[in-house]
Amino acid sequence: MKVAALVPAAGQGERMARALRLLEGERDRPPLAGKLFLELDGRPILRWTLEGLLASHAVEGAWVAAAPAWEAQVRAEVERWGLRNVRVLAGGATRQASVWRLMEALPGEVEWVVVHDGARPLVDPTLVDRVLAAALRDGAAVCALPVHETVKRVGASGLVEGTVEREGLWTIQTPQAFRRTLLAEAHQAAERAGVVATDDAALVERLGHPVRAVPGSPRNVKITTPEDLDAAGRWLRPGGT
Ligand code: CTP
Ligand code: MG
Repeated sequence: MKVAALVPAAGQGERMARALRLLEGERDRPPLAGKLFLELDGRPILRWTLEGLLASHAVEGAWVAAAPAWEAQVRAEVERWGLRNVRVLAGGATRQASVWRLMEALPGEVEWVVVHDGARPLVDPTLVDRVLAAALRDGAAVCALPVHETVKRVGASGLVEGTVEREGLWTIQTPQAFRRTLLAEAHQAAERAGVVATDDAALVERLGHPVRAVPGSPRNVKITTPEDLDAAGRWLRPGGT
């Protein structure tokens, strides 16, 4: 069994850039392509992410998609962090395209892939091993959390259009794990159909293949805005909540 971590990290971090511009009143600043280099407790977000994934004994290496303009810098930083078995490639225009570029670059012996957002720094080996164990049984698995709040659909006008039955609703995180050949088939079918999804499991679901949901973690936040970075920082403090 050969397992590779695939890390889409080629986003523009536009929502973070917009929020920081607002906070700092710098209207003309270019988009912050370096969201993943913002620091969390003194370490860049991407470094947390990679160290969290590689801490799983099952993961033999990580393939990182970086924004083309940042590829060289990301490669240099990863080298400086002294992480073994990490390769950096140029990503694509969407998250899905970035993951596909990584899939295409994998050596033939890789049988299982764990896809994990570069923007989720608090991943840990427990999550990786849990989702991988489920994928080994079922072919595909995602980390997920049951929804605890009331969910409503709100129209563009800001008026509530209805309340969605919460029973059975889960929010989906990464890591997500797949048999490599299954994920490749799913990406190729989506490409042919012109489908673009926000996670990889959605592409596998389209094939009619089962996807197992296993418990994720509330700590495993995706860093989208400055508030998320604050929340991740609180989780890191002793007794953090
Ligand atoms: N991602 C990627 N390639 C893209 C777009 C996104 O690899 N073309 C990655 C991001 O780097 C991130 C993950 O997919 O690790 C989830 O995306 P998101 O949280 O939306 O990050 P950004 O796209 O960078 O942020 P924004 O949407 O605010 O620009
Ligand atoms: Mg995005």
